[in-house]
Amino acid sequence: MNLDGKVVIVTGASSGIGAKAAEFFCREGAKAVLVARNETKLKSVSEKCKAAGGSHIVIKADVSNDEDTKNIIDNTLKEFGKIDVLVNNAAVGCYGNILDGNFVKSYDSMVNINLRAILQLTCLATPYLTKTKGNIVNISSVTSFASPKGTIGAYGLLKAALNYFTKTAAAELGSSGVRVNTISPGPVYTDILENSGARFSFDRLEATTLLHRVSEPDEIADLILYLASDKARGITGSNYVIDNGVLLKKSK
Ligand SMILES: NC(=O)c1ccc[n+]([C@@H]2O[C@H](COP(=O)([O-])OP(=O)(O)OC[C@H]3O[C@@H](n4cnc5c(N)ncnc54)[C@H](OP(=O)(O)O)[C@@H]3O)[C@@H](O)[C@H]2O)c1
Repeated sequence: MNLDGKVVIVTGASSGIGAKAAEFFCREGAKAVLVARNETKLKSVSEKCKAAGGSHIVIKADVSNDEDTKNIIDNTLKEFGKIDVLVNNAAVGCYGNILDGNFVKSYDSMVNINLRAILQLTCLATPYLTKTKGNIVNISSVTSFASPKGTIGAYGLLKAALNYFTKTAAAELGSSGVRVNTISPGPVYTDILENSGARFSFDRLEATTLLHRVSEPDEIADLILYLASDKARGITGSNYVIDNGVLLKKSK
């Protein structure tokens, strides 16, 4: 996929979609920068990246902390000298709605990770992405399009804001040769439900899809690599839905 030697930052690389994307970037000969907080999980992903090839570094960082985000950029440049791709994948889920009185609380606990960190990393990486004519892939969600009935309204709200930001960034950075795109997955088997304290399993989410299936992380990782590669050189400001038909089922 023409990713040989490309320097790629993947946030949220310790599990799920980010872990698989980091492994695939390494397999394609890229130089991956694995960012997350959980050292044990990062170590396990690092082993897989080592086996896959390419080269990589691990940066333990909390993307909601400004000093940490600056370190991510500084350490990437120190180690690899450039930035070609930024994958803004790290996010958390937090439950709460208007009627239970927890909407603002859940918004507050997510906003710095799911949105502000992406704005911050985009701004910090842009001077280097313009040099390499690089690109950004933001990971959103189908919940950004359709208001969920349950208790993840603030999560969807922040993902909708991310979709808007992708277009804003794509419009501003296009003249500098930098592409910015979004991927909106439906349900994917990862640690997200466990990490969010959800009281249901992915099996329940099969019924929300037209295809009666939940995706594996490698399906989303393949799309991330495609958008990050030169094969997608004509794509910017786009939002790729990969949801097993969730949105179509909702609209029926
Ligand atoms: N799985 C799904 O069904 C689904 C559907 C639609 C969209 N998505 C989106 O896909 C993306 C990846 O999620 P996933 O499903 O792979 O979930 P996951 O397995 O829970 O992974 C989330 C990743 O984000 C990292 N992270 C969370 N807070 C962080 C912080 N403050 N600083 C640094 N890293 C942080 C976690 O690492 P640490 O805990 O080690 O920091 C982990 O590596 C997210 O943007 C999510 O919203 C997922």
